[in-house]
Amino acid sequence: MTKIFPQSNSLEFTENLIKCSTGYKLGAIRKTKFANGEIAVVIEESVRNEVIVIVSQPRNYEDMFELLETIDAARRSSAKEIIGVIPYLPHSRQERRENGVRTTISARLLADTLQVAGLDRLITMDVHTTAIEGFYKIPFDNYDPFRYFIEEIKNLNLSNLKVVSPDLGGMKRAKRYAKELGVDIAFLMKERLKANEIAEITLMGDVEGYDVILPDDMIDTGGTMLAGINLLHEKGAKSVRIFATHGLFSNNAIAKFATNHNCPFVYTTNTLPAPDHIYAGFKVVDVCGGFHEALRKVL
Ligand code: R5P
Repeated sequence: MTKIFPQSNSLEFTENLIKCSTGYKLGAIRKTKFANGEIAVVIEESVRNEVIVIVSQPRNYEDMFELLETIDAARRSSAKEIIGVIPYLPHSRQERRENGVRTTISARLLADTLQVAGLDRLITMDVHTTAIEGFYKIPFDNYDPFRYFIEEIKNLNLSNLKVVSPDLGGMKRAKRYAKELGVDIAFLMKERLKANEIAEITLMGDVEGYDVILPDDMIDTGGTMLAGINLLHEKGAKSVRIFATHGLFSNNAIAKFATNHNCPFVYTTNTLPAPDHIYAGFKVVDVCGGFHEALRKVL
C-alpha cells in the first residue's frame, strides 16, 4: 500500500483521493509550532525504502514551508521516492522577468527549493504557464481539468454557446474549448495597471444573445472575471459561466461574485479548498480522479 501524507491544508482532498483506490493508506504527520511562529513537522510512521506521496494545497507561506519541511523529513527518513501532489502550484505567474525590471523569477525559486528539499516527482494541474516544467529536473506531470469542465458544459445543454477568452494569454485554452464544443470564439483584452488591478477591458467579437463560457486557469481577486462578466452582459450576452481551475478567491472575492448583479455562475475545482461561504450558482468540480489516474501510472 502506498502511504499518502496530507498536509494540514489538504485533508479533505487527500481523503477523496484515497477513496479512489484500496491501494492507498493515509499517513500521519504531526505539525507543531514554536512561540515565534516557526513550524516543525514529524512524520509519525516509517517511510524507509518506500515510495510515498505528499499532498499539499498551499494557500500561504506557512503551508509552503510545511511542505518543504515534510519533504525534507521524508528524505532524511530514507524514503525511496517522494512524490508531491500539489494541485495548485503557487508562484506560477512569476516565471519571467519583464525587460529592465529588477525582479525575481519566483516560480524558478520554488522549483529549486522543492528539488533541494528532496522532491522526486511533481504532479500538478493546469499550471499557469507550461514553460515552468523546464525549471524542474524531476518528472513534472501537469494534468488538465479540460474533460471535467467539458462534461459540465455539455450537461448544461445550452444551445447558443460562445467561448470567450478572458485575455490574450488564454486564447489557446479558449480555442480548445471552442473546438471541442464546435462553437465560435471571442476574446477580451485587458490592460493591467499592476498585479490584480485592471485598467481597461474591451471585447473583440460579438456575444449578443449567446450563452458565454469563460475559461481561465484561476480566479484570484476576481478582478479579471468580474470586469469580463459585466462587460459581456453590457454587450448583450444571455448568460455567462466561468470555468476556472483554481479558486484562490483572495480578498474575499467570493462575496463579490455572490453579490454581483449579473449573478455569475462559477465553476471551479477542488485543487484548492473551497471558500467558506459559497452561493447557489457556484460549483466545485471534483478532480481527485485525475490525480488518482496520474498516480496509478507511476506507482
Ligand atoms: C492571468 O493571466 C491569469 O490567468 C488570471 O486571469 C488572473 O491571475 C486572475 O487574477 P484576478 O482574479 O485577480 O483578476
